[in-house]
Amino acid sequence: MTTQLTIITSGADETRRVGAAMGRAAQAGDVILLHGELGAGKTTLTQGILRGLGGDDYASSPTFVLISEYTARLTLYHVDLYRISKPEDTFELGLDEILDGDGLCVVEWAERALDQFPVERLTVELLRTGDETRSLVIKASESGYTRYLQEISTIGTSRQAYGQASNGAES
Ligand SMILES: Nc1ncnc2c1ncn2[C@@H]1O[C@H](COP(=O)(O)OP(=O)(O)OP(=O)(O)O)[C@@H](O)[C@H]1O
Ligand SMILES: [Mg+2]
Repeated sequence: MTTQLTIITSGADETRRVGAAMGRAAQAGDVILLHGELGAGKTTLTQGILRGLGGDDYASSPTFVLISEYTARLTLYHVDLYRISKPEDTFELGLDEILDGDGLCVVEWAERALDQFPVERLTVELLRTGDETRSLVIKASESGYTRYLQEISTIGTSRQAYGQASNGAES
């Protein structure tokens, strides 16, 4: 069973507010995979996640390192696999250790090495629908991750598209 929620955000701050709700819902060892083209808003969402975790820092794209680590309520590991050329490139990153640990692992371009990630996870697909608007499809792989959807529904963005969490097959 997959449970999912679709939200339309207007402006980067609204996407950060969705991220902040995710940060509040996060528990030790969680994995969040972010999908979407360049500029879709993956890093912007991660900035909100860090804020929701109570972090002081501003998350930016890890340009030279593939993993950035931030101290907050949970340690946030912000992973960006855009620059790897093959899945095996992740072996030297210590990804396994992070995934087995007590932090929160948020991954951009996880599709570059999808096999490396547990099937229990939250997935967010971000789609650019206009200069300032983005569609966020948020999918919980199992019941443990539905708390994210509950927390996100509490923020009531002005454009919560299809509103309620609904059951649907993971595509
Ligand atoms: N509703 C919105 N949500 C998120 N970002 C938005 C929105 N509207 C405009 N933007 C802008 O779109 C850009 C998103 O960039 P961001 O770095 O978050 O994308 P990304 O998905 O991480 O891209 P990359 O794959 O290159 O890392 C930012 O400049 C942000 O201000
Ligand atoms: Mg990015």
